[in-house]
Amino acid sequence: MNVLLIGSGGRESALAWKISQSPLLKKLYAAPGNPGIKNIAENLPVKVSDFEAIVSTIKEKQIDLVVVGPEIPLIDGLTDKILSESPKTLVVGPKKDGAQLEGSKDFAKQFMFRHNIPTAKYKTFKKETYSQAVDFLKTLNPPYVLKADGPAAGKGVIIENDFSIACKELEEMFSGKFGKSSSEVVIEEFLSGIELSVFVLTDGNGGYVILPEAKDYKRIGENDEGLNTGGMGSISPVPFAKQEFMQKIEEKIIKPTINGLLEEKIDYKGFIFFGLINVEGEPFVIEYNVRMGDPETESVMLRIDSDLLQLMKFAAEGNLKGQKIEISQKTAATVVLASGGYPEAYKKGLEISGLDKVCGAEVFHAGTKLLGEKLVTDGGRVLTVSSLGADINSALEKSLTEIKKISFQDSYFRRDIGKDLLKYV
Ligand code: AMP
Ligand code: GLY
Repeated sequence: MNVLLIGSGGRESALAWKISQSPLLKKLYAAPGNPGIKNIAENLPVKVSDFEAIVSTIKEKQIDLVVVGPEIPLIDGLTDKILSESPKTLVVGPKKDGAQLEGSKDFAKQFMFRHNIPTAKYKTFKKETYSQAVDFLKTLNPPYVLKADGPAAGKGVIIENDFSIACKELEEMFSGKFGKSSSEVVIEEFLSGIELSVFVLTDGNGGYVILPEAKDYKRIGENDEGLNTGGMGSISPVPFAKQEFMQKIEEKIIKPTINGLLEEKIDYKGFIFFGLINVEGEPFVIEYNVRMGDPETESVMLRIDSDLLQLMKFAAEGNLKGQKIEISQKTAATVVLASGGYPEAYKKGLEISGLDKVCGAEVFHAGTKLLGEKLVTDGGRVLTVSSLGADINSALEKSLTEIKKISFQDSYFRRDIGKDLLKYV
């Protein structure tokens, strides 16, 4: 099969790595890809937002299957566009209707309530209903959770302890703090617990496989201190997600979601990322994403022993029922190598060295660029190093040993990824 992978981050690097191992693969293309992906695929200078160019590429390169990495093109209707102009192409990634699960928090919350899926209680407001929003806030206990309805690059959620600051934040959101994404705001009850990410690949016909679950580490600092980032590392499996808890997730969350999509005639072929929280042993949905997580994918891919391309083909064909996924018992630890200053101001264009010294771990590129032959930094999160080990400590130790071999000016990484989970082992 000829496969086109859309995207350019760490997630796509890990997907490319896994796809490239499939005996079904004839040729892998990436649009636009990155310098890491370039080692295993042909990168094409096509932007993820240029739907016309993506469709032309599909025709020109005789692409059999497209995997869409990021959410924005899905929310904007890339899958609909591909299927309308090239109906035989297999696409992994929902159409616009299904992508609303991530594109609109209000849609997602209504969907969950319609299908009795456990989630925080909520109400949605707009500028005109500001005073009702304040009244609703008064009925909640702090901290107050305010969410821009639309996509805001992971920044649209505000959690505030102080009532009057929360009201002020709300006013700012209605006044365009997150552009039109915050013209509507979901206000919800705060849930207290520990989070995990669960991933499913589904086929639009009720068939699905559950991928390895993972935990990501969002804060910049060790012990989960400091600013929020796009993710500084991940661990899979998650030791508190024991069989009984995973069964609850499947029965109370995954099945009702898949059945809900079927009932509502939403033909969803692709990944569903359940952002979950464990509240005293009960799983609740914090959010849906319509794509894989980053940097969870970097750990998840290492633990999938099955041919993922084969499973994605079945999913895109609507034929996943009865398929099994083989998952390694080992633990995967991913550590992100970031640029000093991130998630605030940081330098770009810093020369990277030492990649050739890494051995026995996978290095995935997240924010790099080639300047001629020279590899330089091109983002806040630059590279990820992922390893498998018998347990959290050994996987983490391996990733840390290898990450130290890579250098660029002011590089930074967390050394405590997964340490908080040792108490659940
Ligand atoms: P989201 O963009 O919906 O994933 O929200 C970002 C982060 O805010 C989540 O990963 C949680 O850590 C936190 N969060 C969101 N909603 C809630 C909630 N209802 N209760 C507690 N924490 C939340
Ligand atoms: N790791 C969280 C996300 O990908 O949104």
